[in-house]
Amino acid sequence: MQNFTYCAPTKVIFGRGVESQIGTELRARGASRVLLHFGGGSVRKTGLLDKVTASLTEAGLSYVELGGVSPNPKLSFIHQGIDLCRKEGVDFILAVGGGSVIDSAKAIGVGLVTGNDPWQYASTGTHPEDDQVFPVGVVLTISAAGSEMSNSDVITNDLLTPWVKQGITSETVRPLVAFLNPENTFTVSKFQTGCGVVDIMMHTLERYLTGEGDCALTERIAEALMVSVREAGRIAIEHPDDYEARATLMWASSLSHNDLTGCGKTRKFPVHKLEHPVSALHDSVSHGAGLSVLFPAWAQYVMQYDIAKFAQLANRVWDCPMDFDYPERTAAAGIDAMKRYFTEIGMPTHLSELGLTPADYDDIIALTTKNNTRPVKSYIDLYADEIRAIYALAE
Ligand code: NZQ
Ligand code: ZN
Repeated sequence: MQNFTYCAPTKVIFGRGVESQIGTELRARGASRVLLHFGGGSVRKTGLLDKVTASLTEAGLSYVELGGVSPNPKLSFIHQGIDLCRKEGVDFILAVGGGSVIDSAKAIGVGLVTGNDPWQYASTGTHPEDDQVFPVGVVLTISAAGSEMSNSDVITNDLLTPWVKQGITSETVRPLVAFLNPENTFTVSKFQTGCGVVDIMMHTLERYLTGEGDCALTERIAEALMVSVREAGRIAIEHPDDYEARATLMWASSLSHNDLTGCGKTRKFPVHKLEHPVSALHDSVSHGAGLSVLFPAWAQYVMQYDIAKFAQLANRVWDCPMDFDYPERTAAAGIDAMKRYFTEIGMPTHLSELGLTPADYDDIIALTTKNNTRPVKSYIDLYADEIRAIYALAE
């Protein structure tokens, strides 16, 4: 087990009806004027926004609205948010939505508290000083990115050509409080539910695989999470208003990316690093759908470097019998089982299903590797040739 620091300070308020507590919780954190930040309109349609504003008003808080965050949130819109908050004297940002809205809120907060363009940090791998925290809260509406408890903020710079998607990793972007009511995810489409299932599994797997250090307890926690998500995903896609299934996905979303499933291990996140350039250059690609295509191909390509771990995953999560004489067969069967599961829940497993053709590959690979100068760290370094080979497995 490697040395580690575990700090997950986001206060989670979970369950039915938690919206009524929003106003008092925000007021207790010093809020007086709130930016209500949301996406393309689902929160208006479902009536959630009305519940949130009622709670703020009841607690004596004023607010200003900024809706319209698009999936894969864009820097130009974040700039608008920073300007609006300055003009309106906002002292708290409440993200009502999923990963895109939360990440947009986090980036606006970074801009406000540092006085710098958040891209300055995302593009250089730097982060704000420890005491530069702008208070952000979350009312989660989709179980997927885990941004509600994570220390990451992933944004797309649409002011560059081509667009670039990159993240800020810093304790300063962890939300202070998250309101998690599974009922608010009943309206998530089957497709987006599937994307969420994949993303939750990936946040767990990216820590389970590739990291240095063994930690038996952490791995058992990760396996339990993945088995629970596998089953809950099936149910939620079949019965969107199954409370227990939605609750399992929601809690798993938070736990999969608040570092619990990585304690005692290092992390590399190669499949995310392969995916982000795909959705940066092809905005219509949902993050979870990109991962669902890339993970099985990546796993097939690198499995040989950690047969034991891939076989363990296959056995404990995907119910594949362990072949002690030929563990590579078990490992390969696990990847197949996972791929079949992705197909079962309606997720793509081929690049062509994302609308990509071989003509698109070179640009994505150039962005992924910074023109073949910066490999994706994995079991081995993945330069352009290795990524091309992975794409060939995903065609
Ligand atoms: O915009 P609205 O109308 O709300 O519709 C959204 C959007 O179209 C819809 N949706 C959300 N809640 C809904 C709903 N539709 C009906 N009912 C509801 N209750 O779902 C669509 C996708 O929303 P989005 O926020 O984009 O999804 P997700 O949570 O998957 O977030 C994806 C973004 O998060 C980033 C991804 O790269 C991507 O940009 N990530 C952020 C991470 C982090 N900060 O820790 C980690 C992740 O690995 C990921 O990279
Ligand atoms: Zn992710």
